[in-house]
Amino acid sequence: MKILSIESSCDETAAAVVEDGRKVLSSVIASQVEEHKLYGGVVPEIASRRHAEAIVPVVKNALKEAELELDDIDAIAVTHAPGLIGALLVGVNFAKGLSLSSGKPLIPTHHLRSHIASNYISYKELKPPFLCLVVSGGHSHIVMVEDYTKMKVIGRTRDDAAGEAFDKAARTMGMPYPGGIEMDRVAELGDENKFVFPRPVVRDAPYDFSFSGLKTAVINLIHNMEQRGEKIPKEDICASFRKAVVDLLVHNFMKAAEDFGVKTLVVAGGVSANSLLRKRLAEESEKRGFKFYKPDKSVCTDNAAMVGAQGYYEYLSGNTADLSLNAIATLPIDYR
Ligand code: KG4
Ligand code: ZN
Repeated sequence: MKILSIESSCDETAAAVVEDGRKVLSSVIASQVEEHKLYGGVVPEIASRRHAEAIVPVVKNALKEAELELDDIDAIAVTHAPGLIGALLVGVNFAKGLSLSSGKPLIPTHHLRSHIASNYISYKELKPPFLCLVVSGGHSHIVMVEDYTKMKVIGRTRDDAAGEAFDKAARTMGMPYPGGIEMDRVAELGDENKFVFPRPVVRDAPYDFSFSGLKTAVINLIHNMEQRGEKIPKEDICASFRKAVVDLLVHNFMKAAEDFGVKTLVVAGGVSANSLLRKRLAEESEKRGFKFYKPDKSVCTDNAAMVGAQGYYEYLSGNTADLSLNAIATLPIDYR
């Protein structure tokens, strides 16, 4: 089954053609990141406008790269939630139009489920059940993936997402958006033990995260140094901050795996591109005899290939929509 998939939840307009959930026939991404860099973060109104401009050429290119016509496609999958509402609406309305005009089924697909599915592209043998750490710009979850479309949230952030904490800390040091990528690069040059940042725990919720105290600690440190006229040791701050975030993520994830007796671990979402997180999760999994999967770096951040992968399993589970489909800014991963 060939699915044409569309993603427009944040600042990437993307389309792909994916066969049977695992084989990527094409994947096209038009990133707006250079424009949002000017403002230090995503400007929702600009994002919506750029999606509207890019969607037609991006979808056409995805078909062209796959050497297919719309007639060869069996269904259309689209990210309908969660994300920036104006951005999501561009993809959803475009997909609805295509579905109406072509008569092909329309498959609503949850963005975070798609991030998890990026691993199905990288590892053909990977099948649920497994435990997944989903870490993106907007979410930090520990999810029990019981089946392709059946999930339970075991732990979640109480405040900022991991990616958001990286982005805000980086912005305070004047580093370009999206700061997580830049911080990861600069951290390689620093001493991770130079600064000790707090490792907040959420009382009576051992799998939940809290990053806002950590973010405030790094911002205060930078502001205090600036006020004293000191040079900001970016490398050491990045390295120490990255270590603190990764320690928190790895600790809770491993605890959840041990407590729930799960032996297969998966990581997903933009922050899964972080080099220290990838390394530490691999090491800690090996120590405990767990099998560990991380998506190929090319599919960690937003793309439509992962939407085509998850869309396939949504379709098999009977999740299709009619033209009343709407975009939803916030929707839990276990919504159905
Ligand atoms: O999943 P994603 O592309 O978009 C959302 O669904 O939010 O994630 C984007 C987030 C940004 O916060 C970005 O800074 C972060 O992922 N990110 C990283 C790295 N690459 C992307 N954070 C830390 N280290 C990285 N290498
Ligand atoms: Zn994402």
